[in-house]
Amino acid sequence: MKEFSFYLITDTHYFENSLGAYGKEYDEFMRYEQKCFAETQSINESVFSWLEKVDEADTVLIAGDLSFNGEKESHKGFVKLLDKLQESGKKVYVVTADHDFKEHPFAFNDTGRIEPEGTKREELFDIYNSFGFCDAIAVDRQHLSYVAQLCDGVRLLALNNDGSNDGRRRFDEEHIEWIKQQAAQAKADGQTMIAMNHFPILPCQPIFGLIGSTMQKESAKAATLLADAGVHIVFTGHMHQQSINEYVTENGNKLYDVCTGSIIADPAIIRLVTVKDENTVEIKSIPTPDFDWDTKGKTCKQYLQDTFDAMISNTLTDMKEEPKRILRKFGVKQTPVLMFAVRQAGKLLNSIKLGTLCRLLFVKCDKSIRQMKLKAFAVELVRNVFEGNQPMVEGTPKGDAFVAFLKRIKPILNKIDAKNFDGTKADLFDLLKNTAGNYDIDDYNAVLKLK
Ligand SMILES: [Fe+2]
Ligand SMILES: [Fe+2]
Repeated sequence: MKEFSFYLITDTHYFENSLGAYGKEYDEFMRYEQKCFAETQSINESVFSWLEKVDEADTVLIAGDLSFNGEKESHKGFVKLLDKLQESGKKVYVVTADHDFKEHPFAFNDTGRIEPEGTKREELFDIYNSFGFCDAIAVDRQHLSYVAQLCDGVRLLALNNDGSNDGRRRFDEEHIEWIKQQAAQAKADGQTMIAMNHFPILPCQPIFGLIGSTMQKESAKAATLLADAGVHIVFTGHMHQQSINEYVTENGNKLYDVCTGSIIADPAIIRLVTVKDENTVEIKSIPTPDFDWDTKGKTCKQYLQDTFDAMISNTLTDMKEEPKRILRKFGVKQTPVLMFAVRQAGKLLNSIKLGTLCRLLFVKCDKSIRQMKLKAFAVELVRNVFEGNQPMVEGTPKGDAFVAFLKRIKPILNKIDAKNFDGTKADLFDLLKNTAGNYDIDDYNAVLKLK
């Protein structure tokens, strides 16, 4: 087969700004938001005009969460961008996802929170028909899934799990049969099949293996299904983070999950993917271009990173000052005991320095980081997890301090009975160490061997 390249973006969360994204309640809402809101139209316009001009590939894949929250006007505005991109000569393939159909989307203006018209899931097939479905070689309409021939040699399995028979957002039995058939057909036709699915099939970072909502439901089953059927790479989104992970099934078949950050939140990345041959896929990562907005002189990267940091920082500040608000935000009952515990944890996080904490725990801490506030360390740690290629590895001052801390609490960690996404017992020491530091595949640029 000849080499084939495509660009991939995800979680565009396009919001038609004329619906309203301003006012007091908007500012309040944005205190805890990772993604941009008022800026998303402008970021999308800048990314799409970049995609129109670049020439390393003429195919663009978009892995879901196309609109902010399924506002009808946002879908209309987004389709205009897709049409323009196709008119420029790029072929576009999309899947829809959880944010593309909501009964109660919202916007904000001077009067507070308002509710623009939403979109039903059944409407999405027609809205996005020109971007994958119309020239697919197979369509599963109920599951909004399709198969498209990207070029001679590469076939796309575009998947969606929002329409499972039981509403559980997993691949139901009918869908599984369809996937198996399509994968077998691709094999029989001598085609390399790659998949796109909004939800990650593998945990983006080890810690997310403990949190079901961060992945496809029944993810281990889905990973085994794809890999054993001969689909060895899946491109995903949803988590707004950068990661590349590998899973090997009991039968010895590999699945790579390449999860890409949203273009409207840190880390905002565009992937350039090249299928080199039947066994080799090269992944490159390109930061999203600057966009037309008053960013107070900041680059796109810095602007989005500051938005991300503010979300974590505000959460930690509110733990100390407004524990009630935090518990309400996360849907936890506001009991006096819990509020006291959150406030005390907040006070500690907001005041103590890394060196002081390490001294209290008899943990070694390099003098270069002793004056660092624990809060700043926590913000950086969380941001690293989302940005991928986490630098807090052993051999660095921050990585050494974190691993020393984990060693100190290892007896406690060993007592906790936790399971990985595939049902195996989780080694929490290892899991946390590998979440803070990336010790395996580069999350941005990699050459992956599929077999
Ligand atoms: Fe999203
Ligand atoms: Fe999502």
